[in-house]
Amino acid sequence: MENSLKNEFEKLQEELTEGTSQNNFLQILVERFPNEVIFSTSFSNEDQVITHLIKNLNVDIFTLDTGRLFEQTYETWASTKAFFKKDIKAYYPDTEELKKFVSENGPNSFYQSVEQRKACCTIRKVHPLKSALKGYKVWITGLRSEHSQNRQNMPSLEWDEDNRIIKYHPILHWSTEQVTDYVKDNHLPYNYLHKKGFVSIGCEPCTRAIKEGEDFRAGRWWWEDANKKECGLHIHQ
Ligand code: ADX
Ligand code: SF4
Repeated sequence: MENSLKNEFEKLQEELTEGTSQNNFLQILVERFPNEVIFSTSFSNEDQVITHLIKNLNVDIFTLDTGRLFEQTYETWASTKAFFKKDIKAYYPDTEELKKFVSENGPNSFYQSVEQRKACCTIRKVHPLKSALKGYKVWITGLRSEHSQNRQNMPSLEWDEDNRIIKYHPILHWSTEQVTDYVKDNHLPYNYLHKKGFVSIGCEPCTRAIKEGEDFRAGRWWWEDANKKECGLHIHQ
């Protein structure tokens, strides 16, 4: 069965040509996989654009509440829910796993080492992600190539071997200006941190604003080496 999903992915790869618009391709996906397409949102501007693109499509939406998000992100979550009037499934870390980790290491051990940071991301994001994706065949994300070095050459349609799922990034090649204009033109709710120099927004203790000219990803896990800055949600083959 899983092999046949990979075959479906290969067929889709042939259908996604340069001339295919993201709207047409989203339509193809929901027709081919009814009730099996899901979108992950962190309520970034990118994710708000996609929520708008799929608002009339049969696509479920989920978010991973790590328990350490910014207050502004929770506000954006609430205003997004009210604006789109759609269910947004919330996923949480496993209580026992988190209890053990925080009891042994304290609440902020991610600053101590890359291992501790990755362990925290695994418990708060990666494990809940696995639950969220269960039963789905297509996962839509708001990844954008401008956001980091290793997202520069990735394709907008991928086979995610780790999660055995088809992954589609509809606005991978959009510019920041395109994204912000779309949010503005459609009067979409947005995270006010974007107005304060925050570009890529994750958990509060691990995200800060960037200065003019700094790399987009400079505000995430800023105390680590640039090439270690992934949390395990997105692994590219
Ligand atoms: S991360 O890997 O560094 O955390 P990033 O913040 O760039 O990811 O976001 C890229 C995409 O990952 C988002 O558009 C969204 O689809 C997904 N994503 C990131 N964080 C979350 C979250 N907390 N809940 C759901 N999806 C998320
Ligand atoms: Fe933990 Fe920071 Fe990862 Fe959030 S981003 S899960 S707080 S290490």
